[in-house]
Amino acid sequence: PIPLILDVDTGIDDALALLFAAGSAEVELVGVTTVAGNVELAHVTRNTLAVLELAGRGEVEVAAGAAAPLCRPLTPTPETHGPEGIGRATVPPPVARPSERSAARLIVEQARARPGEITLVALGPLTNVAAAVLWEPELPRLLKRLVVMGGTFREAGNTTPVTEWNMTVDPEAAACVLRRFGRDGAPLPLLMGLDVTQTAAILPHHLAALRARAGDGPLVRFVEDALGFYFDFHERYDGFRGAHVHDPFVVGSVLDPGLLSARRTLAVGIELGGERTAGMTFADWKGTGGEPPNCEVPFRGEGGAFVERLVDRLVALAAR
Ligand code: BDR
Ligand code: CA
Repeated sequence: PIPLILDVDTGIDDALALLFAAGSAEVELVGVTTVAGNVELAHVTRNTLAVLELAGRGEVEVAAGAAAPLCRPLTPTPETHGPEGIGRATVPPPVARPSERSAARLIVEQARARPGEITLVALGPLTNVAAAVLWEPELPRLLKRLVVMGGTFREAGNTTPVTEWNMTVDPEAAACVLRRFGRDGAPLPLLMGLDVTQTAAILPHHLAALRARAGDGPLVRFVEDALGFYFDFHERYDGFRGAHVHDPFVVGSVLDPGLLSARRTLAVGIELGGERTAGMTFADWKGTGGEPPNCEVPFRGEGGAFVERLVDRLVALAAR
């Protein structure tokens, strides 16, 4: 199995990413770290523990991390993910407690213990990843790879007209991470922006298929109640009834790199100022900036194929 640490701000699509990973035999879930983003850290951590228990994976270590971005106030988004981060879903209070160690410590200690083995998949603002690399500058070399959901290049933004959410919440953390990873021979991070993650849209007929195949039960109800809220949000802001499943698609692409193509290695920077541009990702397309490439960016994604797989995994998980 592929050893993964997931850094999440659960979050409706983060919850689905956790379920997808928990339901995938190819994944060794080394640990999960939580970061404030979609909602406050306490909600994120509670949701994460509860979702893992729903998936029968309550034994996975969950370490809480940053409660706010590096140098800006937290601006949570209850209109996107619901007041507590999981739409209209309700979950029993989790039995498990968060780990004694912090998110950054879990990431660094696991990477040191298993050099070159672990893929760190960042599905929220990059605050924890920045904290971890500031503490252990060798982190980029100790990981197999860093994979990030964030940014947008050719697609419009989903937060301001030009920025993606994870990058907008903590632009300084994103800038720090992009400067410190992918240098001096360390593996280039994979940066999956809206250009690819928006190809993965879950639609009402997928939910109907889930219920028809899996029947009624806590997992199916959770997915329906969480996604129902996300569908309403997308209907209001994106003009379709359904939802982009950004975070699960990122995990799916780690398991099956064939879901991504049109990959470019690019020098990518983060804009830190401006009324609408803080968090904007810009690529040095022509190499005029003189910086070497610091990440790999895919521009084509097979989101449709992935969503079928996501439904299959949810059906299998519900049957356990
Ligand atoms: C990202 O923002 C969050 O709301 C989602 O969970 C995803 O990680 C998409 O821009
Ligand atoms: Ca997220």
